[in-house]
Amino acid sequence: MKSPAVLPQGSSFWYTNCHFARTPDMVTLEKLEDYMPKTYKVAVIGGDGTGPEVVAEGMKVLDAASGKFGFKLDSTYFDFGGDRYLKTGELLPESIFDDLRKFNAIYLGAIGHPDVKPGILEKEILLRMRFELDQYINLRPVKLFPGVDCPLKDKKPEDIDFVVVRENTEGLYTGAGGFLRKGTPDEIATQVSVNTRKGVERCIRYAFEYTKKRNKSNKLTLCGKTNVLTYAFDLWERTFYEVGKAYPGIKTDYAHVDAITMWFVKNPEWFDVIVTDNLFGDIITDLGAMIQGGLGIAAGGNINPEGVSMFEPMGGSAPKYKGQNVINPLAAILAAGMMLDYLGESKAANAVEKSVTELTTTKIKSLAAGKMGYSTTEIGDMIAHMVGR
Ligand code: IPM
Ligand code: MN
Repeated sequence: MKSPAVLPQGSSFWYTNCHFARTPDMVTLEKLEDYMPKTYKVAVIGGDGTGPEVVAEGMKVLDAASGKFGFKLDSTYFDFGGDRYLKTGELLPESIFDDLRKFNAIYLGAIGHPDVKPGILEKEILLRMRFELDQYINLRPVKLFPGVDCPLKDKKPEDIDFVVVRENTEGLYTGAGGFLRKGTPDEIATQVSVNTRKGVERCIRYAFEYTKKRNKSNKLTLCGKTNVLTYAFDLWERTFYEVGKAYPGIKTDYAHVDAITMWFVKNPEWFDVIVTDNLFGDIITDLGAMIQGGLGIAAGGNINPEGVSMFEPMGGSAPKYKGQNVINPLAAILAAGMMLDYLGESKAANAVEKSVTELTTTKIKSLAAGKMGYSTTEIGDMIAHMVGR
């Protein structure tokens, strides 16, 4: 049990406006904590290309939110990414995971550098962080904001508003597999999808809980391929219906992954929450990003509900736009909003989403880089202003 510390009578404290100023003798620090602003330690990794630029705008918005909603941010910047790798040969320092575990959250820009062979940075930085920190959920909302151009004919914001819960530590992403007789005509390459009962179950359970908390249509769709992947998705399907028994208020549904890509285009209004494995989740969320107006506005969270989570825009590092102040920072700003929600600052998170809505409704011309009618920094300034007002 926490022993209450005491604050002697007459101590001066910066927060003068609360009840202990009037307390005759002493006050317990446990009470005091209720009146102190919370401080969140955030690790900030701008990364490559336009990553640092969009993260800078997200930080502006977070600062404005902290002023308005009464919490503090203690941010520490890390320089991981392609430039550091090219300069030092190091991808991530060995001690990094112990360091990162001390933070409340991680805010990431983008990883991917034109001078580094594809796969190295993605696997050794981005995927390694997801795996080592056991961020077993990749939460990706697909939401068409009002005023945003949708490539689907006749679809409105009320038709496109669902969330994909992507398993984030297993499946085809574990790196299991290998070559046999490489480089010969008899070469064999295997890439194994790893699905553990525990891994599948914790993801599905999270998805049910999330659907319940979201309380929109209370419908959870499992996206799989039970007609061909008869081992992996047999496990997924059995687990889905078993876990579902504890959630009588949630309607369950199933769709094959190929069919779901059709429904995303034809009937996106059918979906509330979708749960799926790592690779299918990767693929369908790019399609999801497109129907919500593009990668400029698609955000996601790599979540470990019992550990440290990492929030990032879904798009890549877009190196050709680097340093031009033209990239769209809205995805990074929405990722910052998701981080606020995760930290428990739901009012601040709502303010971010409301401000983005106001901007898409009344101001921004297009979500495409260079065509927004505003620069990257102007968008960040406008949202920060709206959140702080
Ligand atoms: C994503 C990305 C990553 C993934 C790549 C960069 C490794 O496409 O976050 O969706 O495949 O998960
Ligand atoms: Mn992807």
